[in-house]
Amino acid sequence: MRLDWKRTSMKRILILYYTQSGQLLSILQSLAKPLIHAGHTIHFEEIQPEEKFPFPWSSYQFFNAFPEVFSQKPQSLKNISSKAANGYDLVILGYQPWFLTPSRPVSSFLQSAEGRRVLSDKPVVTVLGCRNMWLGAQEKVKKKLKEADAKLIGHIALMDRSANLTSLITILRWMFTGDKKPFWIFPAAGVSDRDIEHTQTFGEIINQALVKNELENLQTKLNEAGAIDIKPNLVLLERRGQKAFSVWSKFIASGGPVHSTGRKIRVYIFMYLLPAAIFVLSPLLWMLSRILLTVKRKELIQDVEYYKQNSLRNN
Ligand SMILES: Cc1cc2nc3c(=O)[nH]c(=O)nc-3n(C[C@H](O)[C@H](O)[C@H](O)COP(=O)(O)O)c2cc1C
Repeated sequence: MRLDWKRTSMKRILILYYTQSGQLLSILQSLAKPLIHAGHTIHFEEIQPEEKFPFPWSSYQFFNAFPEVFSQKPQSLKNISSKAANGYDLVILGYQPWFLTPSRPVSSFLQSAEGRRVLSDKPVVTVLGCRNMWLGAQEKVKKKLKEADAKLIGHIALMDRSANLTSLITILRWMFTGDKKPFWIFPAAGVSDRDIEHTQTFGEIINQALVKNELENLQTKLNEAGAIDIKPNLVLLERRGQKAFSVWSKFIASGGPVHSTGRKIRVYIFMYLLPAAIFVLSPLLWMLSRILLTVKRKELIQDVEYYKQNSLRNN
């Protein structure tokens, strides 16, 4: 693929995003600051589903959304503005993982004719804000970008830095109440203000790469500044999660149409079993991962290196 750069070092950048709480927009605004300051033309475009997802969610709505999110069933989206459809030199795609998969509005956009048209032949940087599990979602995004003939040149992953079970509690509370503030012994939910502020550094690295026309090693530069931080035990946890979710999503979907009793029963089973299983299994899986970290160290290090770059492996 040929990246058709104009002679001028000032570029046209499209920032596509979806967000519920506004967290991802804050991240992207921080990233964009140095780019705006440098004089590039930036257009922010929100991906908007025809039928909005609730925020805050009821617990039933949250778990009921799972099968269609995980199977990446496309939903109808509002048309993007004519401004977003114009040719851009770089596309920055901001998304969030839902159930180890790109959120449904974003996966729908990536599969839509309009989305593919916007992304086709473009260099793309992906930016995500999540709890801590994004590896599988990014693999699914990589695949869709490849199908759209886009070229992924950079990835930035922002996470909640609390311990796994702590962030599970604080993020679920945030999703179900809309309140992300610290409570009792728990810290604030989500990506920290400090990490959001630090995202400007990545914006400056992208600016330098654009101005010098050196996009080929952008990811290496981003990684040096901490754009991707992967804990090997989470690689193992996510792999198990993807397998379990694949079985559960089929089980719930086989219960019948969305409003059927069969489906509702299955959603309730999932809703109570999943958090319980995470709490019971996490410490066991953590111990197992300690063992595997020793036994399969080489393989895991290779996996971590793989997730820090942008090509797609064949499996
Ligand atoms: C339905 C749903 C599922 C989620 N699943 C994951 C997940 O699998 N991994 C993860 O790290 N975060 C997960 N999150 C957290 C989101 O990735 C994200 O951080 C949070 O929703 C805030 O994003 P916002 O910018 O849309 O407000 C989930 C959130 C929702 C609403």
